[in-house]
Amino acid sequence: QTSLRLGIAGLGTVGAGVIKIVRQKANVLAQRSGRKVEIVAVSARNRDKDRGVALSDYAWEDDPVALATRDDVDVFVELMGGSDGPAKAATEAALKAGKDVVTANKAMLAHHGQELAELAEANGAVLRFEAAVAGGIPIIKSLTEGLAGNDIERIMGVMNGTCNYILTRMEDAGLSYEDAFAEADGLGYLEADPNLDVGGIDAGHKLSLLSSIAFGTQVNFDGVELEGIGCVTIEDITQAADMGYRIKLLGVTRLTGRGLEQTMTPCLVPATSPLGQLQGGTNMVVVEGDQVGQVVLRGAGAGEGPTASAVMGDVMDIARGLRMSTFGQPATSLVAAKPAKATVA
Ligand code: NDP
Ligand code: HSE
Repeated sequence: QTSLRLGIAGLGTVGAGVIKIVRQKANVLAQRSGRKVEIVAVSARNRDKDRGVALSDYAWEDDPVALATRDDVDVFVELMGGSDGPAKAATEAALKAGKDVVTANKAMLAHHGQELAELAEANGAVLRFEAAVAGGIPIIKSLTEGLAGNDIERIMGVMNGTCNYILTRMEDAGLSYEDAFAEADGLGYLEADPNLDVGGIDAGHKLSLLSSIAFGTQVNFDGVELEGIGCVTIEDITQAADMGYRIKLLGVTRLTGRGLEQTMTPCLVPATSPLGQLQGGTNMVVVEGDQVGQVVLRGAGAGEGPTASAVMGDVMDIARGLRMSTFGQPATSLVAAKPAKATVA
C-alpha cells in the first residue's frame, strides 16, 4: 500500500511530540497499520526556531493553508491552536480539498465543530480530534466505539490539567497560585492564552465536545455554565481540607427532559474519593451508561507525549482505513439541544 503522508502545521509542544513518535516508531507504526506513516511537510511561524527535532527531511510552508492543500499531503494535522485565524482557515481548506484532518484544537471545535464536521462530510473527508479532550485519555474512542451500545446518562470529570495542577500544588505543597502556575507552564500544559485554562473556558470547550458525542447533539459551548478557578483562595482550600474535601474544577453534562445541562465549575469533592485524589496534570472522566454502569478513565490530560499519543491514535485509524469522524455519527444528524438551567454541579 502507498504511505500515508502527513502535513503538520504547528510545531510547538504537541507538534514536536508527534514528529518524535513518527520518527522514532516508524517501523512499529507501519506494522500496526499495514502502511508507512510519513511526514512530508511542516509549517510554523518561525522557521529558524530550534524545536529539538530535525525538520530538514520535510518541505517547509510558511502558509498553513498552502500546507493543508498540498497535493502530496493526505492528512492535515492541525496543531497551531486558536478558535479562528490560520487554524480554521487551513482546516477548512484541507476539508474542502477532500483531505482528512486530525486536530487537537478544542477551541476551534467548540466554536465551529458543527460547520467543520458538515464540511468534512460534504467532501468525503474525515475529521478527528481525540487529543482535543482530556489529552492522552482515549475518551472519544471509548464513547464512539467501546460504549456505542449504551445510552449515556451522565459524564463528569476533571478535564483541565493546568487547573488541577495549580489546585493540587496549592493544596499539597502550599505553593502560591503564581508559583504553581509557573510550574504548570514549565510542563507544557498551558494554552497560548492561559486565561483559557484558569478561566475554565478550555475545560468548557472539552465538555461541550463530549456532550455532543455522548448525546448526539450539536456542540453547544454557549450553553455551558462556566466558572474558573480564579475565585478559589487559599482560605477556601484550607476550609475544604478541614471538612475532608478538596476543590476541583469539575465538569458535569447530562441530557434532561428540559434540555442539555452542562456545568464546569469549582466543586467540593471528598478528599478520599478518586476525584479528590487526582494529582497534578492528571485528568479523570467518569462515564455513566445505561448498560455498562460507571466507567472511569484516568490519565495524563496534557503535555507533549500524552497529547501526541492521542493525535497518533487518530492518524493510525486513518492509516488503517477507518472512515469514521470523531462525532461518531453524521454531523447532519446531530440535533440542536435546548440548554437547561443547571440544577446540580
Ligand atoms: P504551542 O503554543 O506549543 O505551539 C503552537 C505552534 O503553532 C507553534 O509551533 C507556532 O509556531 C505555531 N503557530 C501558531 N500560530 C501560527 C500561525 N499563524 N501560522 C503558523 N504556525 C503557527 O501549542 P501546543 O503544542 O501546546 O498546542 C497545540 C494545539 O494542541 C492547541 O490547539 C492546544 O489547545 C492543543 N492541545 C495542547 C495540549 C498541551 O498539553 N499542550 C493538550 C491538548 C491539546 P512557532 O513555534 O513558530 O511560534
Ligand atoms: N491547557 C490544557 C490543560 C491542555 O491544561 O489541560 C490540554 O488540553
